[in-house]
Amino acid sequence: MLQSMHTPTNSSTLHLFSNPEKASLYVAQQIADLIRQQQTQGKPAVLGLATGNTPKRVYEELINLHKNEGLSFANVISFNLDEYYPIHPEDTQSYTYFMNRYLFGSIDIKLENIHIPHTNCAANGINEYCKAYEEKIARFGGLDLQLLGIGRNGHIGFNEPGSSFQDTTRLVNLHSLTREDAQTDFGGLENVPHQAISIGIDTIVQARKILLLALGEKKSEIISKALQGEITTRVPASILQNLPHVEYVLDHEAAALIEEAVVA
Ligand code: F6R
Repeated sequence: MLQSMHTPTNSSTLHLFSNPEKASLYVAQQIADLIRQQQTQGKPAVLGLATGNTPKRVYEELINLHKNEGLSFANVISFNLDEYYPIHPEDTQSYTYFMNRYLFGSIDIKLENIHIPHTNCAANGINEYCKAYEEKIARFGGLDLQLLGIGRNGHIGFNEPGSSFQDTTRLVNLHSLTREDAQTDFGGLENVPHQAISIGIDTIVQARKILLLALGEKKSEIISKALQGEITTRVPASILQNLPHVEYVLDHEAAALIEEAVVA
């Protein structure tokens, strides 16, 4: 690790790494440590998981740990952050497909312990569905660890700019930048859904530990705003600034515009 410090203006912690590989391995190790620690106490590990490019290397490393070091996921209960609406779980752009491909298909997690918002319910059933998703998280005692990426507009999960910090799981409208960033995956902007189901910011901040991973130069501008700018619903990730149970895990490029990190 290059550097670990309290973020220059607040109480969360910043871990800086020289490259994306090292940052990803650190996150994978944190997750593996939690799973093992819970196992020794005979407890489940309740994980909040993200999709997207950022966590791919983390998941690859978790698979390596499973295959080569016997890390078992038998005690893991997972809740994914979000899913497009509408989308069929078997579509290759769905987050169900993503999670099976990049993690669940290669580890020993029990199928019944996997939770990803399923959005094939009728539109008038969505509110009930979202409420039930929240209740399920609560029934397992809340999230032990939430893994987050960050959108270029500061979203966490699909809590887009303007989302209330009190929001829980619900149907959301996707921001134009979010849809633009997804267009390659969907083979054109016109194919990208306009909506999604996302757990809320209130759900996220209640996790007992939060790891926000950001990699690459494309994230540097929003990372400096989220960590050092005003705490505002215009930058949803800014809510994390003052939370002592938040760790930002950044590679050098993503941290390039953070004032003290650049000097260091
Ligand atoms: C994905 C999610 C999003 C992504 C964010 C960054 O489940 O909730 O908030 O974490 O859009 O995406 P990538 O990692 O593709 O840059």
